[in-house]
Amino acid sequence: MFTINENYLKLPGSYLFSNIAKKVAAYQEQHPEKEIIRLGIGDVTQPLAPAIITALHKAVDEMGNAETFHGYAPDLGYEFLRKAIAENDFKARGCQVEADEIFVSDGAKCDSGNIQEILGLDNKIAVCDPVYPVYVDTNVMAGRTGAYNKERENFDGVIYMPCTAENQFVPEFPEEVPDVIYLCFPNNPTGAAATKEQLQGWVDYANKNGALIIFDAAYEAYITQKELPHSIYECDGARTCAIELRSFSKNAGFTGVRLGYTVVPKDLKCGEVSLHSLWARRHGTKYNGAPYIVQRAGEAVYSPEGKAQLAEQVNYYLKNAHTILEGLANAGYTVSGGVNAPYVWLKTPGNMSSWEFFDTLLSEAGVVGTPGSGFGACGEGYFRLSAFGSYENTIKAIERITKM
Ligand code: MLT
Repeated sequence: MFTINENYLKLPGSYLFSNIAKKVAAYQEQHPEKEIIRLGIGDVTQPLAPAIITALHKAVDEMGNAETFHGYAPDLGYEFLRKAIAENDFKARGCQVEADEIFVSDGAKCDSGNIQEILGLDNKIAVCDPVYPVYVDTNVMAGRTGAYNKERENFDGVIYMPCTAENQFVPEFPEEVPDVIYLCFPNNPTGAAATKEQLQGWVDYANKNGALIIFDAAYEAYITQKELPHSIYECDGARTCAIELRSFSKNAGFTGVRLGYTVVPKDLKCGEVSLHSLWARRHGTKYNGAPYIVQRAGEAVYSPEGKAQLAEQVNYYLKNAHTILEGLANAGYTVSGGVNAPYVWLKTPGNMSSWEFFDTLLSEAGVVGTPGSGFGACGEGYFRLSAFGSYENTIKAIERITKM
């Protein structure tokens, strides 16, 4: 008789954003007349930029011709895209990352969930608290954690690094030394950014302790303060201790198109074993590549027109973030984030729990956000608003919230 992976039974409830979607759908069914503004999941709302659409159309036409048709993509992704990434995302910033160290995929969510597969089950992971739930849940599924601790509202066997107002939502080094450290800056959910010195500190810490950093840079396009690092490879020594995850979802609006990539430097080794080879083996075995037409669309992100149009798109969302930040601050809320990230992190008013505020916001203002406690115990009493709505809806949402 077959058995199941019992680690799945450790996971409480459903995935945070599925849970919220169900709650909102149930509310909308009961109140069909209510116009709901969704600032919960970080899903983009603006159409794809013209340069991307042109590239997609061209690639679709190529697929309709025997001479220009493309079947399976190369394991690591098409060279035209990997070269554009290496040049624009790394070399232009003075980072040493070669095209053959880049693995193209269908998104950073999958990569951030899958990357743990090449690591031993005995690794102890450290995560920020609050944290993007995928890092923890996928390690739970793999059996790298203990049981869910209802009292502490987190998992045994995981090192949680509190990110609070006191440390400006950037974690301190934990007392117990982890084997694998997940970091995401600019941060989801708090919107906090790490300075170059802070990131360099983590790289030095990882190299000194033989730890691996999994660095999620999905939101780097939202950095507005010039001195902040966009990539962990801007830090000395990162090539021997860090993997970086990138997404086209937030910088180019690809949430529904699907494209991302992972950098595994060839210098990154565990003893004599290269992590690049392990990830290449995994990629080659389990993945057939992002579609050709999508990779051509990704290439257009780096064209002069694509860059200009996407800078405008990012600015559009940053204007929303500013509207949320300023509107709520003026109304007396304690707010942070939103300057180098598309998320605003706010303290719930009074002593309301995150979920109480979620319910109040939905019923009184018709606005959906994400309860901070959904990202971890230290997120309790906080709430995340996304800047990815339309500008009109963002204005309306803030008007409604401030009138509550
Ligand atoms: C979020 O809202 O946290 C993100 O959109 C989720 C994701 O990128 O998977």
